Amino acid sequence: MRASKNTILITGGATGIGLALAERFLKSGNEILVCGRREEKLLELRRKHPAIKTRVCDVALETDRVALCEWAVSESPALNVLVNNAGIQRRVNLAEEKHWEAVEEEIVINLHAPVHLTMLFLPHLTKQKEPAILNVTSGLSFVPLAGAPVYSATKAALHSFTLSLRHQLTGSPVEVIEIIPPAVDTDLGGPGLHTHGVPVGEFADHVMERLKTGAREIAYGFSEQSSHASRAELDAIFERLNQPTREPSRA
Ligand SMILES: NC(=O)c1ccc[n+]([C@@H]2O[C@H](COP(=O)([O-])OP(=O)(O)OC[C@H]3O[C@@H](n4cnc5c(N)ncnc54)[C@H](OP(=O)(O)O)[C@@H]3O)[C@@H](O)[C@H]2O)c1
Repeated sequence: MRASKNTILITGGATGIGLALAERFLKSGNEILVCGRREEKLLELRRKHPAIKTRVCDVALETDRVALCEWAVSESPALNVLVNNAGIQRRVNLAEEKHWEAVEEEIVINLHAPVHLTMLFLPHLTKQKEPAILNVTSGLSFVPLAGAPVYSATKAALHSFTLSLRHQLTGSPVEVIEIIPPAVDTDLGGPGLHTHGVPVGEFADHVMERLKTGAREIAYGFSEQSSHASRAELDAIFERLNQPTREPSRA
C-alpha cells in the first residue's frame, strides 16, 4: 500500500483504533472517509478534521452497506482502500445467554459486514491505482477468550477469510493486509474493559511503520505472539488467558 495519495474508507473510524489510523493516514497526505452509527462521534471527528468525509451507517444492515458503497464511490471516485475496522465485543455466558438477536448482531457486524463490504467494493477497487483491503482481526483470532466466545469466533473467521481473499486476489492489483491488534486501550466492549491494553496511539504508530515496509500481517505484543505460536504454545496461551479468576482479556 502506498504511503500517501490514497483515498481510504475506514468503517468505525470515529473512535479507537479506526480514529487513530484515520488521523495518521490524513497527516500522511491521504483522503479519508469514515462511517459509524453514532452521529455525534462523526460530528466530533469533522469538527477536529473538516477534511474527513463522514456518513452515518450501521454496517449490520445490508441496505446500509450497499448505500455506503454507493455514497463512498460517488463522493470519492478515486477511493482505493477499504479498512474493515468496525467491530463490537460482547461477553457471553453461553449457558445463560437468552438474547439471540444480540449474539447474531455480533456475528453480523464482525463477520457478515466485512465479507459483504469486500464483495461490494472489490469491483471498484480493482480499477483503482494501488488498491488495498485492510481487515482488522485480533490476537483472539488465533486463541479464543472463552468469555467472549462469539467475538473470538468471528475474528478467527475473519482471519481465515482474509487468507482466502489474499490468495484469490494474487495476480490482481488488490493488496490484502491484516491488522491484528493485541488488547488496545479503547472503549471496545464498553468503557473501562480494555484499559489494560496498549495505548491506541502506540499501536497505530506501529501499524503505520509496518505498512511502510509492505507488511501484509501487522501484529503487536500479545498478537505477535499468538499469531506465530505453535499448537503447544497456543494451548499454553489458552490456559493462561482463560484462568477462572483471570479478567480482563489480553486482546
Ligand atoms: N481494542 C482492542 O483491544 C482490540 C483488540 C483486537 C481487535 N480489535 C478490533 O479493532 C476494531 C476497532 O475496535 P476499537 O478497539 O477501536 O473499539 P471502538 O473504539 O469501540 O471502535 C469500534 C468502532 O466500530 C464502530 N461500529 C461498531 N458497530 C458498528 C456498526 N454496526 N456499524 C458501523 N460502525 C460500527 C463504532 O462506532 P459506532 O458505535 O458509533 O457505530 C466504533 O467507532 C474492532 O474490529 C475490534 O474488534 C480491538
